Amino acid sequence: MKLNQNYFNVNDSYLFSDIAKKVAAYQAANPQKKVLRLGIGDVTLPLAPAVVAALHSAADEMGRRESFRGYGPEQGYPFLKEAVRGYYDERGIRLDGGEIFISDGAKSDLGNILDIFGQDNVVLIPDPVYPVYVDTNVMAGRKVTYMNATEENGFLPMPDYSVDADIIYLCSPNNPTGAAYSLQQLKEWVDYANAKGAVILYDAAYECFVSEDGLARSIFAVEGAKACAIEFCSFSKMAGFTGTRCGWTVVPEQLAGGKANRMWLRRQTTKFNGVPYIVQRAAEAVFTPDGRRQIAGNINYYMNNARIIARALEELGIWFAGGKNSPYIWLKCPGGMGSWQFFDYLLENAQVVGTPGAGFGRNGEGFFRLTAFGSEEVTREAADRIKRLLLK
Ligand code: MLT
Repeated sequence: MKLNQNYFNVNDSYLFSDIAKKVAAYQAANPQKKVLRLGIGDVTLPLAPAVVAALHSAADEMGRRESFRGYGPEQGYPFLKEAVRGYYDERGIRLDGGEIFISDGAKSDLGNILDIFGQDNVVLIPDPVYPVYVDTNVMAGRKVTYMNATEENGFLPMPDYSVDADIIYLCSPNNPTGAAYSLQQLKEWVDYANAKGAVILYDAAYECFVSEDGLARSIFAVEGAKACAIEFCSFSKMAGFTGTRCGWTVVPEQLAGGKANRMWLRRQTTKFNGVPYIVQRAAEAVFTPDGRRQIAGNINYYMNNARIIARALEELGIWFAGGKNSPYIWLKCPGGMGSWQFFDYLLENAQVVGTPGAGFGRNGEGFFRLTAFGSEEVTREAADRIKRLLLK
């Protein structure tokens, strides 16, 4: 047998596994120290009561012969697709049920979608970026072209017609920088993609954190997007499903004359058996009036954490972005420190864990990401420790 040689072109381990290993080693050597984790963007609030009630009742259904379910439709049960369709409908975006595919989360679909695209596509990815976009393409042997996301362009690169691209990744609000495209800016991307015959793989996993008018929550709010975009979204950050696993992907009928939609259906029915029934019922409950109210409370809670971190950085005079329409705060490492240097400095001197910007790409060097997904107590303590350390 021959191994896939492309795997030798990605880093030995995934960014967040690397960090977890480093933190575990530090904790093992310093068992008495309390480490505060604001690194990986993992939620800490429990599932909303409406979601838990739906899980219980679906579990009961599964325990009765007359309501037990085996394999479900690979692309999701109609009740959940209908709820997702309604979510878009509220924002004036009309989707057909057949365009919505329920999955176990945006990360899997963002990697798996590459199955339907040819090997020789030119891939355009912002730098810095969520590492999954780059790694999945490198694993598949595709060449990646980067576009610079920098302080100068507000970490929101815009299309450059002198660059040719076939597959373009956009994430807004962005992981890791927290920057969010306006609808007008996205329109420029849609026009570019349509002009080049390219597809935009649009990661909307953080859309629920957008609070400012005029910022995009779905690429399909932009005219022309259905001809050139696939959107990935998730219940992970929106409703605390990081461990429960559910998301959705929209592959419009208009894209490649319906071929992309049919190919994705073919791919999913072949390689995926769908999300568990009980999880889909739980996800459906997110869209009920109680569910909506409860998750709005959770989102506010996290955004309050973002404000706590932002205030501390303001007091320290540290440059940062994000935190307003995003649960991530993207800050410039103080004193000209490198990203990993600052990671070690914070871990060793304040026992606070963040994510080094360099882990997201070359342009992330010198930056650092903190997440607002911790508990309020941990966030306050981390902000205090950072202030005490850096005010010295
Ligand atoms: C992150 O910290 O960037 C996220 O947790 C990654 C993810 O959602 O997979």
